[in-house]
Amino acid sequence: MPETVNKDIKQEIEKLVKDLNYHNYRYYVLDAPVISDEEYDLLYRRLKELEEKYDYVLPDSPTLRVGAPPLEKFEKVRHAEPMLSLDNAFTYDEVREFDGRVKRLLGRDEEIEYTIEPKYDGLAMELTYRGGLLVTASTRGDGYEGEDVTRNIRTIKAVPLKIEGPGEIDIRGEVYMDLEDFEKLNRQREDNGEAPFANPRNAAAGSVRQLDPAITASRKLHLACYGLGRVRGMRFRSQSDFIQWLRERRFPTPAKMEVVTGIEKAIDAAREIEEGRRSFPFETDGAVIKVNDFPLQEELGVKTREPRWAIAYKFRAHQGTTRIREILGSVGRTGVITPFAVFEPVRIGGVTVSRSTLHNWDEIERKDIRVGDTVVVERAGDVIPHVISVIREKRTGRERKVSVPEKCPACGSRVIREEGEVAVRCVSLHCPAQVQEKIIHFASRGGMDIEGLGEKNVGLLYSRGLIRHFEDIYRLKKEDLLGLPRFAEKSAQNLIGAIERSKHATLTKFLFAIGIIHVGEYAAKLLARHFRSLDNLYHVKPERIMEIKQMGEKIASSAAVFFGDEKNIRTLEALKLLGLRMTNPDFVSGEEGRRPLEGLSFVITGTLPKPRKGVEELIESRGGQVSSAVSAGTDYLVVGESPGSKLQKAKTLGVRTISYDELMKMIGKENGRPGLF
Ligand code: IVH
Repeated sequence: MPETVNKDIKQEIEKLVKDLNYHNYRYYVLDAPVISDEEYDLLYRRLKELEEKYDYVLPDSPTLRVGAPPLEKFEKVRHAEPMLSLDNAFTYDEVREFDGRVKRLLGRDEEIEYTIEPKYDGLAMELTYRGGLLVTASTRGDGYEGEDVTRNIRTIKAVPLKIEGPGEIDIRGEVYMDLEDFEKLNRQREDNGEAPFANPRNAAAGSVRQLDPAITASRKLHLACYGLGRVRGMRFRSQSDFIQWLRERRFPTPAKMEVVTGIEKAIDAAREIEEGRRSFPFETDGAVIKVNDFPLQEELGVKTREPRWAIAYKFRAHQGTTRIREILGSVGRTGVITPFAVFEPVRIGGVTVSRSTLHNWDEIERKDIRVGDTVVVERAGDVIPHVISVIREKRTGRERKVSVPEKCPACGSRVIREEGEVAVRCVSLHCPAQVQEKIIHFASRGGMDIEGLGEKNVGLLYSRGLIRHFEDIYRLKKEDLLGLPRFAEKSAQNLIGAIERSKHATLTKFLFAIGIIHVGEYAAKLLARHFRSLDNLYHVKPERIMEIKQMGEKIASSAAVFFGDEKNIRTLEALKLLGLRMTNPDFVSGEEGRRPLEGLSFVITGTLPKPRKGVEELIESRGGQVSSAVSAGTDYLVVGESPGSKLQKAKTLGVRTISYDELMKMIGKENGRPGLF
């Protein structure tokens, strides 16, 4: 029940918001935190507690960065000024020609002032601030019209939610992913049987263009602001002035920006970026050279889609040659055996490369790659090295062709290759590689989310014979862990606690975690929504699964095979006996697909007859959205006993208010309880 907020509390909340935003800036923009993660969490939790208790949330509160419910589709947004692209130069002479054009068009002999910044390889974004508040974030789209991704961009901690500034300003920048986070994400995806992203740009774009902001929030994204769109109520003199202004307002700006006079100095600066490109944590494929002075930029104008005042100098792709020592196979969670090449270590673009995936056995044949071959390896925008081609002239005749393995490299069982499939699989139930991978997947963030049960510890517990199946996880006792390397009283307790908590995961997460081939997070959600409980899936026919609109045949048949297997069902029943009780906020009861609250947004105030969390889940499962603060966009305020200040706000804004019973009527005659497994 919210209490009335007084001056002291307001002040405390304001201070917490201010401090947390400052620490976000230190951490995410400057990369120089001044407090520990634990301290940050304490402040954050205190803020969250006060906000809930007093129903008082400031518009730039860091708690607003998370928690928006998924969307059905993105709305379109028109850019006040078109978002252009850049002309490319591949040699320094082409950069000099650019300078010549600039001078000719301006009718000037004297040297031009240029800025030089790294070119970020991500997704271009426009941030619109009105009255100092971030109101819209949109993608570039076709340059004129993009997509509204505001809720996703808010989850990026480096993006200021509130600034001191003019009435209206459009700020452009690039959302990108650091190389290390990109590689980590891809490893995770491969472990989950999902296709890895080809390069950090695709990873960034794929993470932003997510209908569910929770997925965006789970990806580590950064922003670098480098451009100005429409601005009202103020003027900037130059690019460097504008960047300075952004920095003062705590916007992340390019990692390096030089201002020089004359094109030769600009070329030197670009060369410096190229030579130092490996010291950046992100991928950069070029340097952007811009005429610094804004009035001169205006005079130069735009040709079709590109400004005449800027050029992107593109770096050469990173390539190297090396010899293949061996071609081996690695076994994934689903038993798929993927070939990879082991090279003589070679430095490419500052990184030592000694192996690369060869994707599948057909590809080896298509490219005629043999052990002993000298090959061209490239790391372009892609961080993962790829074998581009074989240098046949270097063949000596001693090269060895490899054939599709007949035995699993991990357990030695015979492998199978299904008709029309490129994948070669080990189908042994006892293959240690698969068992460990399966358990790692089961415990992963997207699955049962058991912190502390990652690759290393699974390997350790497996080797000690402590876990061989999912069930064993729930049989682990603290005493089993004590005395193992890396485990002390506290860490053992933490792991046992995390395992305990996972017993209440959602059915969706569970269905994803058990690793049914082809069932990813989305398919798991569809299954949970449609079938409501695990028991309903036992011995299900593929046709029944195909009744779900978005469901593909491959997924349906693989899920049916899984739930048709007695042994699997025994495992599921054993897990229930061990105490697993899944909640299912994703199911829609009544007629299938009935979503009576579709498109409506709700805010709750006061005490309801049922726990608030459950009511929120119910609203969401029926297509509605729940927010924490009343705004003009709120459709209904659900009013419980002793409502807080939200009621007043709703009245002021003319938002409709309803009781809990009225909400239940809107949904249908239900008791408002989220389903239990
Ligand atoms: S300025 C008029 N500066 O590259 C265009 N763009 O290939 C203004 N990009 O669409 C762009 N880093 O998404 C600029 N430092 C930087 C950049 C940059 C990356 C992107 C941007 C643009 C694309 C053009």
